[in-house]
This record gives sequence, structure tokens and C-alpha cells, in this order.
Amino acid sequence: MPDKKTFDRDSISNTLFVSVGLSLVCSILVASAAVVLKPVQLKNAEEYRQRIILEVAGLMQADADIAELFATIQSDNVEIASGESVEIYLEKSDGAVKQIILPISGPGLWSTMRGYLAVAPDGNTVKGIRFYEHGETPGLGDQIDKEDWRALWVGKRIFDDSNSPRIEVVRGLALQDDSNPNAIHQIDGLSGATLTGNGVTKLVQHWMGPEGFGPYLETRQ
Ligand SMILES: Cc1cc2nc3c(=O)[nH]c(=O)nc-3n(C[C@H](O)[C@H](O)[C@H](O)COP(=O)(O)O)c2cc1C
Repeated sequence: MPDKKTFDRDSISNTLFVSVGLSLVCSILVASAAVVLKPVQLKNAEEYRQRIILEVAGLMQADADIAELFATIQSDNVEIASGESVEIYLEKSDGAVKQIILPISGPGLWSTMRGYLAVAPDGNTVKGIRFYEHGETPGLGDQIDKEDWRALWVGKRIFDDSNSPRIEVVRGLALQDDSNPNAIHQIDGLSGATLTGNGVTKLVQHWMGPEGFGPYLETRQ
């Protein structure tokens, strides 16, 4: 009598069937999670961007509803030299502009850094700076997020007398006395992060220059 054929769970075909089936189930689960979570991620990213805009303008309040607070800021569009229309934000009070919040971005040492610069209605005095995205090294380049360093920007002037963007992050400490005629344009460097600081100088000067918001800010001076 011939042997009754038994199920061999260690056979090549069964091993293949189980591994392919398991991979398929796992990939469907991961893909579904990515699709389902995408809108939540986008919402969180947008809320974070709005929080940064509120923070750079000094309008963020603890426990505030970010969307509600953000709705008090107006958006506007500025056409830059390349013809691109760029979204900016205005804090207004009784119809008068109190702050102009401008997007800025450019290369750091390792990454593209993206953030906002808040400017007073004179189109020249800095009210705040804040980055919301970068990949600079923790403890070195990421000092651009430090509150103490960001505070050094407040009150600095972007433009010199000939309306060229002069604001800069210097290497080391910026002398803040009468012996330094450029003190009003200078921010202390970040130790161990000179290259990231140079990147910040370049991107701010670019965005405040003729190819960025320079012509728009000039209309406000
Ligand atoms: C692993 C590693 C990560 C670094 N990350 C940064 C950085 O994020 N930003 C930066 O400016 N310099 C960074 N540096 C240092 C630069 O290579 C360079 O030495 C530094 O910018 C010089 O700045 P200092 O003159 O203030 O020391 C890093 C160096 C190493 C080895």
C-alpha cells in the first residue's frame, strides 16, 4: 500500500508561501497606516508652522488654541523678482500693520533651514527670528533654535544707510559699543557652529535683498 501523503510544513513551497504571505500582510498594514496617518501628519506639520509664526511674532500664549490665534494674523502675497508669489503674514491692530512676518530659507551646513523673520512696520527693525525646519547638528548648528540667541536679533537693523542688507551673524562676539559702527547689524556667532551661522547670514541677506523682500520692505520705509 502506498504511503499516505502528509502535509510537510517545512517544505520549500510552504516556507515560501508563509514568508510571501507574511510580507504581503505586513506591507499592507504599513501602507494602510501611512495612508491613514498622512492627513494627521500634515495637520500636525501645519499646526507646528502656525505655532512658529505666532512665536516669531511674540503672539504665542500658553494653552492657546493655535488655529484660533493664527486666524488673527492676515496673510498676504508678495511677488519677488523671479515672478514667484510668496505668502507673508501681517499682524495688524486697528487696520495698522504691527509686524511683517516673512518666510526665509536657505542652506546651512547640512540642511536647508526654513523659518520666519518678523520685521517691524518700519521695514527695517527685526522683531524676531525662528526656524521651524533644519537638520543642523544637535548641540552645534541647532543652537539657532536657542531662545537666548534668537533674542539677540530683536532690535537689530536689517539695512544700512544705502538700503543694502547688512545684518549678519559674526564669528565670536559682536562688540556692542561705540567702537563698532556695525553693532546695530551684528549678532553674536554660535560657538562650534560658524558655518551654520554663515548660512543664516547668507539666507537672511538673500531674502532681505533685491531678489527677496528688499523691494517690498523698501516701500514701507
Ligand atoms: C560631526 C560634526 C558635526 C558638525 N556640525 C556642525 C553644524 O551643525 N554646524 C556648524 O556650523 N558646524 C558644525 N561642525 C563644525 C564645523 O565642521 C566647523 O568646525 C565649525 O563650523 C567651525 O566653527 P567654530 O569656528 O565656531 O568652531 C560639525 C563638525 C563635526 C565634526
